[in-house]
Amino acid sequence: MASIGPESVALVFATGEKRRNSDVEYLFRPHSDFVYLTGFHEPDGLLVLAPGHPTMEEALFVRARDVAAEQWNGRRLGAERVKETLGIENGFTVEEFSEVIPNLIDGRDVLHVDQDVETSHQVDLWLKTMKESGLAPPQQRVELEDTLHELRLIKSDTEIETMQEAANISAAAHQRAMRYCNPGISELALESELQHEFALRGARFTAYPSIVASGPNACIMHYIQNDRTIEDGDLILIDAGCEYQYYASDITRTFPANGRFTHPQREIYELVLSAQLAAIDQVRTGHSFTDPHNTSTQVLAQGLIDLGILKGTLDEVLENELAKPFTVHRCSHFLGLDVHDVGKREIDGEPRTLEPGMVLTVEPGLYFGNAETMPNLDSKWHNIGIRVEDDVVVTENGNCVLSANAPKFADDVESLMAS
Ligand code: GLY
Ligand code: MN
Ligand code: MN
Repeated sequence: MASIGPESVALVFATGEKRRNSDVEYLFRPHSDFVYLTGFHEPDGLLVLAPGHPTMEEALFVRARDVAAEQWNGRRLGAERVKETLGIENGFTVEEFSEVIPNLIDGRDVLHVDQDVETSHQVDLWLKTMKESGLAPPQQRVELEDTLHELRLIKSDTEIETMQEAANISAAAHQRAMRYCNPGISELALESELQHEFALRGARFTAYPSIVASGPNACIMHYIQNDRTIEDGDLILIDAGCEYQYYASDITRTFPANGRFTHPQREIYELVLSAQLAAIDQVRTGHSFTDPHNTSTQVLAQGLIDLGILKGTLDEVLENELAKPFTVHRCSHFLGLDVHDVGKREIDGEPRTLEPGMVLTVEPGLYFGNAETMPNLDSKWHNIGIRVEDDVVVTENGNCVLSANAPKFADDVESLMAS
């Protein structure tokens, strides 16, 4: 409320359930902004914040109690229990929107709201009705990115503890996948091992669909089909992270299906890992958001020159972006309630300075395609796709790697798989 100020009102929607097919809904997951401010997880909720309002500074609208609906679809909190359970001063039912909301919005200059297609129609309607009945709806409508999202970007100690637990669960799942992997099983069987470990440890959802990519599939960035049979000699790239108490983890490990890297696989693996370690070292208070990316790009480019894959000097390779066909994506994004979390990466056109409490991924990779897509490449590199990804908190004195329990040194991976 302090960050939006007394001229403003904020509407923060939970959003609603979405139909998957016939009368079946996708499992509901509330909007991250709503969870952040309320800790409440039923569909259709709306939080209204009106700082300085004479009678009501905060209100939460929830689904009404309904004995019949609750017998079929589960318990509801109900408006009458909002204050005692959530500590939000005023609880209403969603049926009371049109009675209460105009009074909260009337006379405020700025409306802060996510421009979500689903909910903005509803907002348009309220504003129109207000105008028609002689009230004064806000003239200005702004996104929550300058206010709420700046708060979400800097994680509190409690949030970091939760993210540490999410990363621990995911690291255990990656270890389990390495142990259970064998040529002959399907990618889906390996995905089920991840799911098993997530669920056993209290995480029902993944933060994004798990990527379990064997052999040539590792070169497809968002491969989620997960239906190929794993072959001897394949590399397996798993990019998977659970969501724990609404917080994401996002970990990638790449390992040999049969437990032993081939020589070319190990050469590329060591290169990606050295780029990742150098990039993690750049995650420090006062450095810029793009420092890890720039450092990893340099290490990868030099490595590709040293292996004879690229020709030219480091400067020539960097200047002409000759490594880009192999590196494909950038090295970092913020992580939090969302896997690609909120928070501006640039301010006034300049890369943002890192501050304590920011959490970002560090995830360089190299992807070599096949004889069709990269015909000029020595065939010993074909179909190698490798990424190593960790979740890193910026601290006062450096950084802390939340996902350190997932083995990543080649010898450690091989000895875990051998055991
Ligand atoms: N798994 C999505 C990402 O790594 O950004
Ligand atoms: Mn990832
Ligand atoms: Mn990521």
